[in-house]
Amino acid sequence: MRSILVLNGPNLNLLGTRQPEVYGRETLDMINNDCVQYAGSQGAQVICQQSNHEGALIDAIHAAKGTHQGIVLNAGAYTHTSIALMDALASVELPCVEVHLSNIHAREEFRHVSYISRVALGQICGFGSRGYQMAIGALIAHLDELDPK
Ligand code: DQA
Repeated sequence: MRSILVLNGPNLNLLGTRQPEVYGRETLDMINNDCVQYAGSQGAQVICQQSNHEGALIDAIHAAKGTHQGIVLNAGAYTHTSIALMDALASVELPCVEVHLSNIHAREEFRHVSYISRVALGQICGFGSRGYQMAIGALIAHLDELDPK
């Protein structure tokens, strides 16, 4: 069975109460449960992790190699700053779909830059929590193309 890592970065543990007008009212637990359900309906499993620490996110990406076939990543604000996260993704050579709840391109200019996009298959943003399921679907479709059953 395909296994996908759903990895969330800083401040996303506060979803539900953090700026709900921007990020919605769903908690990370609710989003993670929806990811598990959706992946299951597609014959895949997801493992969900979150950290507020850049190094821990890098460790999780390294550990994904050999364990998961792809990564769905919302790196939070590290998206816009972290060359180290970008390098980690490039190093493990796992397909990654970048997710943001908000439409980062419609927000402050500093959010328009994503280092993750340089190494991601693609980016899904602006669709709220639904974006995670869209990302899982896109990743599974990509893996199916690489390795048709
Ligand atoms: C975010 C967008 C980032 O700019 C922000 O720093 C976040 C959340 C999003 O999901 O919309 O923490 O990644």
